[in-house]
Amino acid sequence: MDEHMIRELAVSALKMRELSYVPYSDFAVGAALLTKDGRIFTGCNVENAAFGPSICAERTAVAKAVSEGAREFAAIAVAGGKRGEPPKDYCPPCGVCRQVLAEFSGPDMPVIVVKSEEEIRITTLGDLLPQSFTPADLG
Ligand code: THU
Repeated sequence: MDEHMIRELAVSALKMRELSYVPYSDFAVGAALLTKDGRIFTGCNVENAAFGPSICAERTAVAKAVSEGAREFAAIAVAGGKRGEPPKDYCPPCGVCRQVLAEFSGPDMPVIVVKSEEEIRITTLGDLLPQSFTPADLG
């Protein structure tokens, strides 16, 4: 992946944490999803008093993209940690978000996990969710 784009996605994911609505966990997550046609859709986590309806940053970004007509994704960046502080560690996508990403993206899609602008790791969706159940499995 292009270094400049990796950094842009990382910065966007870090920045989106400022918009997280996290009164229950105090854990702010930001995501930046790059489409194959070069658009970036961002997302933050949005929690709820009933807990269950809470949505992760990654799924917020996916819902924003799909609802704008984008379904082909080139990469996603994710950053998370205690609200109001820089991340202390890398925040890989949760299992539900991995499954949602696998609905639209193949195993080679880069997943960029971000601790800071300088500390970035790149893995793939296939590494995070091997042998996944996808639309192809429905036949
Ligand atoms: N969270 C995300 O937004 N993305 C992840 O991949 C991990 C977890 C959110 C959900 C909840 O609002 C908070 O982080 C603590 O779990």
